[in-house]
Amino acid sequence: MARTTAPFPTTRLRRNRRSPALRALVRETTLTVDDLIWPVFLMEGENEVYPVPSMPGVQRLTVDRVVTAAKEAADLGIPAICLFPYIEQAVKTEDCAGAWDPDNLSNRATKAIKQAVPEIAVMTDIALDPYNINGHDGFVVDGEIVNDRTVEALVKMALAQAEAGADVLGPSDMMDGRIGAMRAALEAEGHSHVSIMSYSAKYASAFYGPFRDAVGASGALTGDKKTYQMDPGNADEALRLVERDLLEGADMVMVKPGMPYLDICRAVKDTFGVPTYAYQVSGEYAMLQAAAQNGWLDGEKVMMESLSGFKRAGLDGILTYFAPAAARLLNG
Ligand code: PBG
Repeated sequence: MARTTAPFPTTRLRRNRRSPALRALVRETTLTVDDLIWPVFLMEGENEVYPVPSMPGVQRLTVDRVVTAAKEAADLGIPAICLFPYIEQAVKTEDCAGAWDPDNLSNRATKAIKQAVPEIAVMTDIALDPYNINGHDGFVVDGEIVNDRTVEALVKMALAQAEAGADVLGPSDMMDGRIGAMRAALEAEGHSHVSIMSYSAKYASAFYGPFRDAVGASGALTGDKKTYQMDPGNADEALRLVERDLLEGADMVMVKPGMPYLDICRAVKDTFGVPTYAYQVSGEYAMLQAAAQNGWLDGEKVMMESLSGFKRAGLDGILTYFAPAAARLLNG
């Protein structure tokens, strides 16, 4: 970087911060509604909502309610909504067959949203955990999360979601080889226009706790996800994963969680210059909301500050449970 800063008092960096107008002129990054992807939780039933206790302000929604929510999001200018199904413990199975059922909860919601609110992009989740009796993202055989057999199932899941009308598929499973397998299947089956946003650098994080409550996976999960999700100590490996997924056909890549991994966000964006997103995950949302509810933090201000941090890190967008609240503030 060229050294253009003369010594004090020729340079007084406070000059540019003197008023809101000057601060606006020199602001380097700005959050807009276009940056927001809204993750929502689905449940069976009609005209019902269920508040998720560990995520104040977040609810599971029945399909009719999610259509209304999608309409509201579109009216706020939010470009995309991301669907996560809550599956009752009693209907989870070892073979996870519900995952690629064309009429499963997620696929019914996709169809209903695309019919009623075609302008909003629908993103879906590809991983077996909501359907899996042991809560893992892949099949468990003799205590091991098996890769290649899981990828075959994920491909079926991807095709069913594309068939239902999903615009963006979000593989969140961290199996090896799944992006290439999905891309080939999508091309072969007439879904060449469907985008893949790969959860490329997804860490084995304790910040996912409230999400597992929201999708009903907490009770089910045996052990941890460390044999497939990333070690939080690693950064170089994140770049290898992103590069691998791009070469296999990912259109967009994601870093997850968000706030504790902004260094990874910046490195990915600088290294590859591709559409890059972060997931401000359930635990990040929960901790900000909990502090705000206790009066320990100003909820609106920390929401906006946390989201602008992702823009400053170079990202193209953020998956955040704050999406509607942030959009309302941004829209004035
Ligand atoms: C699972 C999945 C998880 C999240 C999105 N997809 C949890 C996990 O890996 O256990 C977490 C999202 C959040 O915490 O908000 N495939």
